[in-house]
Amino acid sequence: MADIQRTLSIVKPDAVAKGATGDILSRFEKAGLAIVAMKKIQLTQELAEGFYAVHKQRPFFGDLVKFMTSGPVVVSVLEGPNAIAAHRDLMGPTNSEEAPAGTIRGDHGSDIERNASHGSDAPETAKIEIAYFFNASEVLGPVEAL
Ligand code: RTP
Ligand code: MG
Repeated sequence: MADIQRTLSIVKPDAVAKGATGDILSRFEKAGLAIVAMKKIQLTQELAEGFYAVHKQRPFFGDLVKFMTSGPVVVSVLEGPNAIAAHRDLMGPTNSEEAPAGTIRGDHGSDIERNASHGSDAPETAKIEIAYFFNASEVLGPVEAL
């Protein structure tokens, strides 16, 4: 039995700027991932630094924060069977230059940093990341109960 999970998606500033938001969101829906929360926001330096705090010591941290605050992002919560892995499969590998055509990063990203999308990598991080961006009142209840 597939585990019904929730995961956090961010359409990153590069993909929003090139008008790829609709294409990316439609890939989620076609793959059976329901959007149970969504908003378009401009990340502040503080919000971006907090979100990627796990990478604080990495050499690319400053560039990453600069990129993530360079324009609006679309943040959503996806729900579906094995949503965390299903979403990451749709995204493809971190480096867009290595991501196959047909994946979100392969089709819409440019390189290892400007890679069009973010997805949570485990149930624990999904829970933390969803709560980072959404209050409980901004997220729908279980899809099958709607
Ligand atoms: P994400 O967290 O954004 O979904 O990406 P990921 O798990 O595939 O990759 P992660 O290792 O968590 O890296 C987070 C983001 O940092 C940027 N990055 N830049 N310049 C570099 O070497 C480098 N490495 C990673 C990317 O934007 C990556 O998505
Ligand atoms: Mg990551």
